[in-house]
This record gives sequence, structure tokens and C-alpha cells, in this order.
Amino acid sequence: MNVQVNLAGVILKNPIMTASGTFGSGAEYSEFVDLSRLGAVVTKGVANVAWPGNPTPRIAETASGMLNAIGLQNPGIDVFCERDIPFLKQFDTKIIVNVCGKTEEDYCAVVERLGNEDIDMMEINISCPNVKEGGIAFGQDPKAVEAITAAVKRYAKQPVIMKLSPNVADITVMAKAAEAGGADVLSLINTLTGMKIDINKRCFAIANKTGGLSGPAIKPVAVRMVYQVANAVKLPVIGMGGIATAEDALEFIMAGATAMSVGTANFVNPYATVEIVDGIEQYMQENKIEDIQELTGVVK
Ligand SMILES: Cc1cc2nc3c(=O)[nH]c(=O)nc-3n(C[C@H](O)[C@H](O)[C@H](O)COP(=O)(O)O)c2cc1C
Repeated sequence: MNVQVNLAGVILKNPIMTASGTFGSGAEYSEFVDLSRLGAVVTKGVANVAWPGNPTPRIAETASGMLNAIGLQNPGIDVFCERDIPFLKQFDTKIIVNVCGKTEEDYCAVVERLGNEDIDMMEINISCPNVKEGGIAFGQDPKAVEAITAAVKRYAKQPVIMKLSPNVADITVMAKAAEAGGADVLSLINTLTGMKIDINKRCFAIANKTGGLSGPAIKPVAVRMVYQVANAVKLPVIGMGGIATAEDALEFIMAGATAMSVGTANFVNPYATVEIVDGIEQYMQENKIEDIQELTGVVK
């Protein structure tokens, strides 16, 4: 049985990876999960300098999901390279570094720096709804998507994944723009902008007023968008949004995703990623599927 997948020449032992921002750089979760069982670890977003993130409260629970407005808190690329990459290198898994920035120069500085590091891929977050500059400002305009993709590609030594926002009228327009800019892989979806109000305190539940909705509540939207994008571009797609079980992950594969990220589910069940790897293999055995690629995009 073959569960390996190929993302722009990088071979993952299985299609399950973590979703950026929900797994740190793996250190805390390594007490629960053997990171060597994962196809890849995708790190929390890292910028050229340390960011403090947004004021608290920064998370709130919702029906079948959560809102967050962390604001891309991170220690900066220097600490990340010294501390987090050596930690992850101890494991037999691929390392995908999620990159954030406020300006094109910020993104390119991180991407250039990562060129000297022993990592496998980079995921460029142009879709964070929780920062005022950068992030989603790049992800909602196709010209900006193409330009930032092309700029990053000029500096990148590893394959580049562009992470798309669902907070747009037509995600296929953004996907085609990233493809035109030279992206190697696309990932989707980032969180959907939402709001919650605390009626007892009569204020916003999150200090930032709005936050990004994630978890099972967004899965049907994510599956629809993965299907649309996989049929609109030639690039491999990493699907995410509400995946908590192997059945969820299989929906994304059948919609056209080559690999899948598991995010919010890690907060509820720290074993979610490995349980999903096992569940996919069990489904393949029961259904006599020899190669996972037999399932990719089977729904037309
Ligand atoms: C607390 C939290 C922090 C996140 N931080 C990042 C981040 O730093 N960079 C990024 O690209 N996406 C970030 N995301 C988005 C997730 O990677 C993912 O796209 C989204 O949550 C949908 O997947 P899920 O429903 O499985 O969580 C974050 C999500 C959450 C819940």
C-alpha cells in the first residue's frame, strides 16, 4: 500500500501534516505525537523580526469551531533558525516553514534567509485576517497575489506553497494568480473572518473585534474551495479546514487535495494527526486501494 505523496518534488511519507499556528514548531506536541509519523510539520508563521501579536483575549469558542486573532505572534527568524529548525531535524519528517510579513521586503528577507537552512518547503501566508498590514492585504487582490508570489520565488531555494484566503468572492481567481506568479503548490483554506459578542460584558469576545473562524464549522466551505481550486489550476493542493478525522481527510483527497493539514483538531485531541494517518490506511485496506493517488480528485 502506498500512502506517499509528491509535493513539487518533495516526497512526504504520508499526506498528513500540521496546520500552521496550531502545533507551534512541534516541541510541545512531541510529548504526545511521534513527529516522525507525520508527512510534514508546518510551523507557526515566522517573520523577519519578533512580533508581539494582538492584545488579549485572542481566542473564543464557537459552535463546532473557534475564533482566533493571535496576530502572528512569533520570535523572529533568528530565534526560529537557532531553536526550532534543529529541534525538528531530530525527526524523520519534512519541515515546512510558514512565513509572514508586513511588506514584500519582509517576506523576501525571511525567504532568502531560509534558503541557507535545511528545510524542505516554505508556506507563504498571504491570508491572515488578523493583522492590519501584510497578511490578507496581499491575499485579496489577484495582482498582489501574483506580484508577491513572483517576488518570493526570486529568492526561494526551496519549493513555495502559497496559502490562500477564503475571504474572497472567487478563490479560483487567487489560485490562478498564484500559479501565474510561479507558485509550486497551493494551500487552502486559511480562516474565515468572524465575530462574537459577549452579551454579559456587552463587548467583543476578542479584543481585535474580529477573528478567524476555524474547526469543523468551516469544513464544507473548505472542501468546496479545494474542489474548485484543484479543478482550476495544475498545481498540487494542500487542503485544510476542520479536518478532525480520517473521514474528513478523505473528503479533501476526493475533492482533489494531494495532502492535508490538521489544525484546530490538535487542540481538542493532540493525537488527531496520527489517528488520521492510521484511519486513512485502514480505509485503503478495507476498500482495497493500493495507492492513495487512486483517490485523489475522484469526484468530478
Ligand atoms: C490559533 C491559530 C493560529 C493560526 N496561525 C496561523 C499562522 O501563523 N499562519 C497561517 O498561515 N495560518 C494560521 N492559522 C490557520 C490554520 O493554519 C488553518 O489554515 C485554519 O485554522 C483552518 O484549519 P483548521 O480548521 O483545521 O484549524 C491559525 C489557526 C489557528 C486556529
